Amino acid sequence: MLQINPNLADLVSDASAGLRSRFNVGASIIAAAPGRVNLIGEHIDYCDGFVMPFAIDRYIVISGCANGGPEARVATELDEEIAVFDVSGPQREAAPKWSNYLRGVIAGFQARGYSVPGFDAYILSSIPGGAGLSSSAALECAMATFLEGLLDTVMDTREKALLCQKAEHDFAHVPCGIMDQFASAFGQDNRLVLIDCQSGEPELVPFVNPNLTVLIANTMVHHELSDGGYSARRKHTEDGLAIIGKSSWRDVTEAEVTAAWEQLGDPVNRRARHVVSEIARTKAAAAALERNDFAAMGPLMAASHDSLRDDFEVSCQELDIMVEIARRMGAAGGVIGARMTGGGFGGSTVTLCESRKATEIASTLVAEYEAATGITPQIFASRPSRGAHLVAVAR
Ligand code: GLA
Repeated sequence: MLQINPNLADLVSDASAGLRSRFNVGASIIAAAPGRVNLIGEHIDYCDGFVMPFAIDRYIVISGCANGGPEARVATELDEEIAVFDVSGPQREAAPKWSNYLRGVIAGFQARGYSVPGFDAYILSSIPGGAGLSSSAALECAMATFLEGLLDTVMDTREKALLCQKAEHDFAHVPCGIMDQFASAFGQDNRLVLIDCQSGEPELVPFVNPNLTVLIANTMVHHELSDGGYSARRKHTEDGLAIIGKSSWRDVTEAEVTAAWEQLGDPVNRRARHVVSEIARTKAAAAALERNDFAAMGPLMAASHDSLRDDFEVSCQELDIMVEIARRMGAAGGVIGARMTGGGFGGSTVTLCESRKATEIASTLVAEYEAATGITPQIFASRPSRGAHLVAVAR
């Protein structure tokens, strides 16, 4: 029942084969960037909080070469049509939708004074789309890394991640925080990317215990509300902070939220309670991991999910069902903790469990989720993996 993660080397060779079959050229630049899962710290990256994602071993690969002209010609496995657009001048949004992530990144390079030459490229992904695993951040980071190869330059990792975040803001109109692009850009094997979103500094925290497994369960649902819902939540947190009269959520205490409860009004008061409590939980989780107290993660993950469900209202029935199944198995069944992960409104859950029980847990998640919803979920294990990088450059 546990899906096998496609090997990056296979993805790379398939992407190069795709480039050859669609454009009849060989790859001179191959870039890869991963998706991410977040262990804890949800919807607080845009509130100066702490978040604890890691880059997963699922990637977007871009294989390509310069074509000597002014246009980008980009093909993907999912689209018969080749996206063709001029890269010699300013970028604007246009169909197909996925091409906007590329255009946004190209615009970021142009804004830094680079002239981007025309190129042919083929894109392949092993990150399930719409699963809350940041395939869009991976596409942006893969594109930025591809351009580094094409332009023979190396951008500071933080600057690259911020450029990609701006592409998401300006070309996909999602006012996201920094978590996804930072995880995809900074990820390393066996390291969590603990980000202090106030300072914008990532810290790579070892995650090497072979007895622990992280299971990702894709509910296979994605509710339409997502984009508007995300901006609305962000707005609530901004309104709440203004009412409390502080410049950062990091300086707000739970007592201050309680004191301002009536003034904040519903739902802003509940959104505020989520932010402040989730910041505290993520700090506690980081401290627990530092002392190898994995059991302490369970209650923190549970409280995080409940807060996202009841106060922040970004969960959905399917996510709640998946989390509930894991919770029922509990410590006796090898489950340490479970919660929704990512932006919500569908997507995936993350379950921290004992490695020796992981296969059994995955089977139970599939069987019971199927019985409850009629939907077959996708379950896979993931270890912290290498972030965006060039796989090959040949000039
Ligand atoms: C999306 C956004 C992130 C973050 C999460 C919620 O993934 O892109 O910036 O806000 O939702 O934690």
